[in-house]
Amino acid sequence: MRIAPSWQSLSAHAARLCESRLAELVAADGARARDFSVRVGALYGNFSRQRFDRDAHAALVAMANEAGVPAALQALFEGDPVNRSEHRAALHTALRSDLGRSEAARSAHAQARAARERMAALAAALESSDITDVVNVGIGGSDLGPRLAADALGDFGSGRFRLHFLNNADAHPLQRLLRELDPARTAVVLVSKSFGTQETLLNGTALKQWLRRDDALYAVTAAPSKAEAFGVASERVLPMWDWVGGRYSLWSAVGFAVVLAIGMSRFEELLAGAAEMDAHVLSAAPESNLACWHALSLVWNRNGLGFDTHAVMPYDERLALLPAYLQQLVMESLGKSVRPDGTEVEVATVPVLWGGTGTSSQHSFFQALHQGTDSVPTDFVGVARPAHGFEGSHRAQLANLLAQMEALANGADSDDAQKRYPGNRPSTLLLLDELTPHSLGALLALYEHSVFVLATLWGINAFDQWGVELGKRVADKLLPALNGDGSQGVADPVTRELLAQIRGGS
Ligand code: F6P
Repeated sequence: MRIAPSWQSLSAHAARLCESRLAELVAADGARARDFSVRVGALYGNFSRQRFDRDAHAALVAMANEAGVPAALQALFEGDPVNRSEHRAALHTALRSDLGRSEAARSAHAQARAARERMAALAAALESSDITDVVNVGIGGSDLGPRLAADALGDFGSGRFRLHFLNNADAHPLQRLLRELDPARTAVVLVSKSFGTQETLLNGTALKQWLRRDDALYAVTAAPSKAEAFGVASERVLPMWDWVGGRYSLWSAVGFAVVLAIGMSRFEELLAGAAEMDAHVLSAAPESNLACWHALSLVWNRNGLGFDTHAVMPYDERLALLPAYLQQLVMESLGKSVRPDGTEVEVATVPVLWGGTGTSSQHSFFQALHQGTDSVPTDFVGVARPAHGFEGSHRAQLANLLAQMEALANGADSDDAQKRYPGNRPSTLLLLDELTPHSLGALLALYEHSVFVLATLWGINAFDQWGVELGKRVADKLLPALNGDGSQGVADPVTRELLAQIRGGS
């Protein structure tokens, strides 16, 4: 065991504060509501409803400094091989910022700009064609980011194309989609960093056969020769690179669908918002750094107070896909229990991340947040000014958001045990002035950097995902049995029985 002094200090503060009440912490420190906050442009974060006090927060900041967070961030931006198991850089920041001074970072930035020029040209050609529908075929990072951004920012677009997203191996969505599309007016974009992902190749092959022409096939990939072998002409293959992780790739040509939805200049605004967050995160000391405040709150809840889930609740339907996007970003990045050197991490790492939109979630699972046995630390994501004219609805939306945070924190007593609310449940507010490409870019970059700070504190690699490989290998081995080649080769008795049930299922 090599528990660093700052982790011992965290435990001591957690022991001191574990019985403390949020309402008392707030009452005892009149400036807390204002001081426990950071604004970066159009994005404001307030952490005063986290159950730490100033001393505990100072200990968390000391922990970030002891773990070398500022230097680690610098190394990330410079393109050091932070993805140690794959000996790669993670230069997603270079897709939108030119803050890295190294040759690797500058070259990455230049390649990203060149790719954007090609993307703009392909988008312009599509706009002047007869194409009415575009299908983005991809999964994980090749789906969640572009789908979230296209959905969230749809109002900024001209609606020139109807966009569709096909992701997983279930062909029911494919079948439904083909019923409504015309192959003469449809373009298909295969998005796959590896161009070896089973689900994407299954859907892509079916669509290619249905299209019966290759001039409407596009690809975004770091394996262009595989895309060309599949039948995509090289002039319609946009690049990706091994120095960008799939779940960090929205800012690259993986965002082609977003460009088709909102246009290139709006896409550039998305990148500019992320770049604004990059500049803040790289330059601000941990005590005034929004990503550090966010990550340290998670560490406090996970490692100090022992909470094992974390919820994200956008109070804006345009952000409905945010929890799903963050599940991959956070849980694929931080779902690790060994360090790059193979030693075990001594502390708990990623919490289970989940969520849904307010106010509808209030009428389903918020009961458990208020009166269940577990506290669920929650990020409330709000938008101060709506993009619609129904002001009464928006005021109600915001009243509900503020009310939930207050009720979760303060609770309420009653003589009737059924009507007692324990309160003391922590939350953070992330408030956008408005939902724009710029503010969405800043919000997503904030989460990316928070993930990296957490990985640095826990000593794990945020950029590999070996955990998903075993299941893929087992599925490959089982496919012959499902193809009817017998289950003799299937060693696991439970799987053999389940296969028999599937074959003879009543
Ligand atoms: O299996 C997980 C994963 O590798 C993700 O990390 C990635 O975003 C997704 O699959 C899709 O991969 P690709 O873009 O190579 O098709």
